[in-house]
Amino acid sequence: TDQLKAELLELALEAADRAGAFLRDGRPEDLGVAATKTSAVDVVTEMDIASEKLITGFLADRRPDDGFLGEEGASVEGSSGVEWVIDPIDGTVNYLYGRPAWAVSIAARKDGETVVGVVQVPMQGETFRAVLGEGAFVDEQRLKVGAAPAFGQALLGTGFGYLEERRVRQADVVRQLIPQVRDIRRGGSAAIDLCDVAMGRLDAYYERGLNPWDFAAGDLIAREAGALVGGRPGDGPSGELTVAAPPGLFETLQGKLEDLGAWHD
Ligand code: IPD
Repeated sequence: TDQLKAELLELALEAADRAGAFLRDGRPEDLGVAATKTSAVDVVTEMDIASEKLITGFLADRRPDDGFLGEEGASVEGSSGVEWVIDPIDGTVNYLYGRPAWAVSIAARKDGETVVGVVQVPMQGETFRAVLGEGAFVDEQRLKVGAAPAFGQALLGTGFGYLEERRVRQADVVRQLIPQVRDIRRGGSAAIDLCDVAMGRLDAYYERGLNPWDFAAGDLIAREAGALVGGRPGDGPSGELTVAAPPGLFETLQGKLEDLGAWHD
C-alpha cells in the first residue's frame, strides 16, 4: 500500500497542478468587473465545472476503476476501493472576486480512509500535501503545529454557510466567541483554513455545514501536521461540525462549541 499511496499522491499533485494552472491562467479578465451577478456566477460555475472535468478526466484516464465524489456532481462508485474526493475550486466567492484565497482540493480515500490529501493554492504559489502516516508538507517544508496558545490568545478561523437561518446561528456563535479570543478570521476557503492550522497561520478553525470535498484533503494535512481534527466530541469532522486545532486548544474549542450548540441551526 506504500506504493499505492505514492501513486495516488503523484496523481493528485499532477491533477492539482493542471487544474490550478487552468484556473489561474484561464480566469476571464473581466470576471471581477462583470456587471450582473448572474453572468459572473455563471462564468465561475463554468470554471468550476471545467476544473472538475479536467481533474476527474485526468484521474479516470489513469485509474479507470476508482470512485469519484466531486462538488460539481462527480459521483462514481468505482470498484478499486479508492475514491477521489474533489473540490475543483474551494473558495468560489474569492475566485469570483479575484481574491487570491482559493484552492484546488483533492483527497484520495482507500476503503473509506483518507490516505492522501493535496491542497494547491495557485495565487500563493503553495502546494500542501499529506500522506497518511508520512507527515504533511508545504512544498518541501515539513509542517508541525506549535504549542497551543491559551484560548484568550487564539486566532480562530471560521466560515459561514449560504442559508440565512444557518447564518443567523453562525453569527450568534461568533458573537459569543469573539470577546474571548484574540480575533476571528473568515478566509473563504475551508481547505486553506485547515492548511493554515497546519502551518500556524491560524491557531484553530471551526465551521458548521461543510461538505466532504471542503475538508477531506485539509483534514489529513492538519492531522499529519499534528493537529487534532474532529466534529462534536467523539466524532470526526462532518457536515455537523469541523474543528481543527493543536491538542489542548482543540478540546477547549470543541467544548465551547458544544456548549453553544454550534452544530445545529
Ligand atoms: C466554501 C468555502 C467556504 C466555507 C463554505 C464552503 P466552496 O466552499 O470552503 O470557506 O465557508 O462553507 O461551502 O463553495 O467555495 O467550494
